[in-house]
Amino acid sequence: MKVSVTTIPLRELDVDLLLIPVTEDRVQAALAEIEAVFGPSAGRAAADFKGTPGSGVLIYPETANARRVALVGLGAAAGVDAERVRRSVAEGVRFVETAKAETVGISAPALALEAEVVSQSLIEGFMLAAYRFLRYKTDAKQGFAGPERIVLHSSDQDKTSRRGAERGRILAESVMSARDLVNLSPHEKTPVLFAKAIERSAKKYGYEAEVWDQALIEAEGMGGLLAVNRGSVEPPTFTVLTWRPEHAVNERPVVLVGKGVVFDTGGLSLKKTEGSMEYMKSDMAGAAAVVGAMEALARLETPVYVVGLIPATDNRPGRNAYVPGEVVRMHAGTTVEVLNTDAEGRMILADALSYAKTYRPELVIDLATLTGAAVVALGNECAAVMTNDAETAASLEALRASGDRTGDRVHPLPMYEEYGKLIESAVADIKNIGGRGAGAITAAKFLEHFVDYPWIHIDIAGPSFLKEPKPYRPKGGTGFGVRLLSDFLRGYARPRKS
Ligand code: BES
Ligand code: MG
Ligand code: ZN
Repeated sequence: MKVSVTTIPLRELDVDLLLIPVTEDRVQAALAEIEAVFGPSAGRAAADFKGTPGSGVLIYPETANARRVALVGLGAAAGVDAERVRRSVAEGVRFVETAKAETVGISAPALALEAEVVSQSLIEGFMLAAYRFLRYKTDAKQGFAGPERIVLHSSDQDKTSRRGAERGRILAESVMSARDLVNLSPHEKTPVLFAKAIERSAKKYGYEAEVWDQALIEAEGMGGLLAVNRGSVEPPTFTVLTWRPEHAVNERPVVLVGKGVVFDTGGLSLKKTEGSMEYMKSDMAGAAAVVGAMEALARLETPVYVVGLIPATDNRPGRNAYVPGEVVRMHAGTTVEVLNTDAEGRMILADALSYAKTYRPELVIDLATLTGAAVVALGNECAAVMTNDAETAASLEALRASGDRTGDRVHPLPMYEEYGKLIESAVADIKNIGGRGAGAITAAKFLEHFVDYPWIHIDIAGPSFLKEPKPYRPKGGTGFGVRLLSDFLRGYARPRKS
C-alpha cells in the first residue's frame, strides 16, 4: 500500500472511497459541511448517523470527485485517544471491501490530540484492519487484497501529518511482517527456514542477524534448547539480532528475547488437537514480535542500542524426545527436572535469558506465548506482564503507558516469593512446572532463576493469536508486541529524567 498526504480541497480528492471520521459532538456540523461539499442527497443519506464508536454510513456524493464517502464514528470528543481513532477508521474497511476501492482517502479530523498522533493512528488503524493473509489462497483475487493507495487528507500545511502518516505506515508494515510469520504454515518455518526469513528481514531493513546452527548451540551449552529439540528431525537455531545506531543513547543494550517454538505439539506430554494443538503454529509469536520490532527500530532509526535473541525449535514427540522425569542441565548450569514436556517455552527462554547476561544489559524484555494460564486470567484483551524487582518499576510503568497508547495492552501479575516454592524440585535445582494454580506466575518464577539484570516478562499467549477478529486485528496472528515495543523504545530514547 502506498501512502501519501495531501492538502487539496476535499471536493477535488479523486479516490474510490473517502473515509471521514466524525465525533458524536460534531455530527450536525459535519452534516452541514457534507451537504456543502458533496451535495444535498449526501446530507440526507447521512442523517441517521450518530457518530457512535463502531458506526458507519455510506454516501454517494454528487458534487465531488470521490466515488463514495463513508462517515465513521469516533464517539464522544472528550476522551478520544489514538486507539479510538484506529478503531474508527478500521470500521471503514468494510466499505472498502464492498466498494472494491483501489484508492482510499482518509480525512484527518481536528481532535484534542497532536496532528502527528492523529495521522499516525489513521494510517496504522486502516492498514492493520485491511491486512489479509492470502498466501495459501489459490486464487488470490477471490480474497480481499486491500487498496493500492491511501491518501491522507489534512488541513495542516506543515510536515507533522506527513511524519505521522509515515510512522504509521512503517509500524503497520512491521506488524504485518510479524503477522505473516505467525500465519505461515509450520512446514515453511522450520527453525532454519525461520532464521533465513529473519536474515532477509535484517538485510532488507538494515539491522544485523547472526544465525547459530546446532553445533554452535551445543558448543555454547544450551541444554534447554537442545532438550526440547531432541524429539525433532529439524535442528534448532539461535538467532542474534543487533540494531546499534551511532547515535544510540545507551552503551549497554536493551535485549529483547522472543520465544520461537515454531510448532508446539506438547512433545511426549502431547496436547489434544481440538482447541489446543491446532493453534500452535503461533507459538513463535514472541519471536515474530521481536523481528517486527527490530524492523521498526531500524526503519524509524530509533536511537537505542537493541539486541534481539531468538531461540527456535519445534516441540515434538519422537524416539529421542526428552521425557518427563528427565533432568536437564541448562546453559546457566542450573539443573531442571522436566515433569511436563509441554512446558518447553521456559526451557528455551531460560537459555536465551542466561546468554543475555554476556551483554550486561540495561534491561531485558522477553515476549512469549508461554502459558494457557495467562489466557485463562486475561483472555485476548491484553498480555500478562511480570518483573523481577522494584528497580524495574519505572520501566514497567512506561511499558504499561505504551500499551495503553498503542492498544497492545499489558497488565501486571504479582511475583511474590511464595510462588517460587511451587517450582522447588526434590531431585534437581528446580522443576519445570508448578501446581494447578498461578500457572503464568510460576512460569515467570522459573525464568527469574536465569536473570541477574532488570527484566520484564510478557506472556502474550492470549493477544498474539485470535480465533475471532477484533477491531483492526483480523483472525490469526495479530503482531501483538511490535507497536508496544516500538513505542516503549522510542520513549526509552528520550533523555531520561533523573
Ligand atoms: N505454547 C503453550 C502455551 C499456550 C497456550 C500458548 C495457549 C498459546 C495458547 C506452552 O508451551 C504450554 O504448553 N504451556 C503449558 C504449561 C503447562 C504444561 C505447565 C500450558 O499452559 O498448559
Ligand atoms: Mg507447550
Ligand atoms: Zn509452547
